[in-house]
Amino acid sequence: MKKIIHMSDLHIGYKDFKYRFMSIIHDLRSKVPSGPSQYIIVITGDLVNDANKKGSCGDALRGLNRLKRSGFKHILVVPGNHDYGTGNKGNKKFVASFKKTFYRSDLEYPKLDIINRIAFIGLDSMAEELHWYDDLWAQGELGKKQLDRLEEILNLKKVQRCNKRVVYLHHHPFKWRPLHQLKDAGKLKKVLTKAMQKGISIDAILFGHNHEGDAHNGTWGIPRCYDAGTATLKPRSKYVSWATWFKVQSSTRVIDLNQDPAKDYRVTYTYQEKLQEEP
Ligand SMILES: [Fe+2]
Repeated sequence: MKKIIHMSDLHIGYKDFKYRFMSIIHDLRSKVPSGPSQYIIVITGDLVNDANKKGSCGDALRGLNRLKRSGFKHILVVPGNHDYGTGNKGNKKFVASFKKTFYRSDLEYPKLDIINRIAFIGLDSMAEELHWYDDLWAQGELGKKQLDRLEEILNLKKVQRCNKRVVYLHHHPFKWRPLHQLKDAGKLKKVLTKAMQKGISIDAILFGHNHEGDAHNGTWGIPRCYDAGTATLKPRSKYVSWATWFKVQSSTRVIDLNQDPAKDYRVTYTYQEKLQEEP
């Protein structure tokens, strides 16, 4: 079974992060022992720092294409709040442009991909977060329509026949942080719990958004619950830097669903080593 590389929050377009992503691409190939064709890359949103900034989406796409050319054939992405605007203020026009850029199709979420008998179910946690009254904060909301479709997808025979099922989205579904939460996390829990009670396993839930990068394994009865942090180490806003309890981490993980979660591990990139060397 193929392994998963989970990363998040690249924020391309912020400072020199386009080059940090290039460094990540260069490192990934040398840091995965089995060869790139054995991995599926999942990126849980905030590919760009500001969708309004010209060139950022193009730079992100060029990076993904470079990853593909280096052998990582399967790359799955979902949007984050920054992929639809500034991070706080979103614009509905970016929903279509994100799909056009990264999927080349006008699909409906959840996005279902079955790869080597693993069902990957991607959610848009910004789906109901683009109204004028959502402009102030960076919260997420899946919405009833998407949650109903998720339930339908989990009941599909082809999904049930899979060996494993992985749900991925941008917003953190568990950990409460002021003005950053997934508003309908309780409803998502209900849909996933209902499936698990019917014997349809949810083997991993992958997300980003908070930039913290911690594991929350076992929450809702799901063995792997991973926040990938921010691969490029996007720093926090200077306005909240006083809160010492919040730590930004780059937590790209290599996940083997056939092994115990304790065997999953984090990748360290060359640029991180260079950052540590700086005075
Ligand atoms: Fe982010």
